[in-house]
Amino acid sequence: MKKIKSGIYGLNELLDGGINENSTTVVIGSSGAGKTTFATQFIRRGLEGGQEGIFVSLDENKEQIIREAVEMGWSEILEYLDKELLVFIDASGREFSTFIKKELPAFVSDWGGSRARIAIDPLTPVMWSTKDPYEQRDLISFMLKEMRKVGTVLSTLEEHGGTGDLSGTETIIPMYLADCVIHLRYIPLEGGVSRTMKIVKCRSSRHSELSHPYYIMKGLGLVVEKGDFEKGTTDKIPQEMKKKLLEKKSDIPPQVFSRLEKALDELKDVDFKDMKASNLIESILNEYSGE
Ligand SMILES: Nc1ncnc2c1ncn2[C@@H]1O[C@H](COP(=O)(O)OP(=O)(O)OP(=O)(O)O)[C@@H](O)[C@H]1O
Ligand SMILES: [Mg+2]
Repeated sequence: MKKIKSGIYGLNELLDGGINENSTTVVIGSSGAGKTTFATQFIRRGLEGGQEGIFVSLDENKEQIIREAVEMGWSEILEYLDKELLVFIDASGREFSTFIKKELPAFVSDWGGSRARIAIDPLTPVMWSTKDPYEQRDLISFMLKEMRKVGTVLSTLEEHGGTGDLSGTETIIPMYLADCVIHLRYIPLEGGVSRTMKIVKCRSSRHSELSHPYYIMKGLGLVVEKGDFEKGTTDKIPQEMKKKLLEKKSDIPPQVFSRLEKALDELKDVDFKDMKASNLIESILNEYSGE
């Protein structure tokens, strides 16, 4: 799986190097969590690396989003817009089913390439455009699939209530459909705010399961602290297991043995969490004993 850099300092380490290319990511957060900033950083990082950007706004208008980006210190966005390397689609206030089923596919077939970065900010108005969960699912699924044809998709989703409960239909449907889900937990406190980021799921990628403090800083945008997530690259445990299994090679069918070796080469210490490697070896040997 090819990885692309997220544009958020500190996040790539938590995602085994970055976001999978041509995947779909949903960033969930309440108002003020930093969703639009996240989406802008993702697009901006692509532009820096020579990728094109498509910003689909379903809520705020183009001027407002650009104003906020410039205010953040990212005025080069204006040059990218001028050169048409960044394309802005303002769908705020539109009839979403026509927009998604007709206009987007026309846009996609005109586009040509498949290496752009697409930000959709936020998906929530599409969820609100109909009460029927089947139609909601159909619209979101169709939209994500279409946009994925032209590149890597990142969409945001509003979280209401602020309790951190992601089990409502409004969040569940987009979460199921996305490959990767990132939750920005934002709690306004007296005299400050608390911001923590958690990767809820990420298909086809190893990822941190911890909560990470993040900050929003002028000029840098969202910045994540990787904290204790340090074990990402070491592989002492699986290599040690390989040695132990080698001693028992004759107890394991040969084709299974080579598959196990291969699997262990792909694992890192972080994958083992609190699991005891010695117990796992025992279970493996038990599985094939007597064969
Ligand atoms: N220029 C800036 N300098 C410093 N901090 C900023 C700047 N712009 C935004 N922020 C911080 O980012 C926060 C909001 O970010 P953003 O607009 O991305 O949130 P959001 O999740 O998209 O909110 P909403 O749901 O209301 O659209 C602000 O409340 C502020 O704390
Ligand atoms: Mg926003």
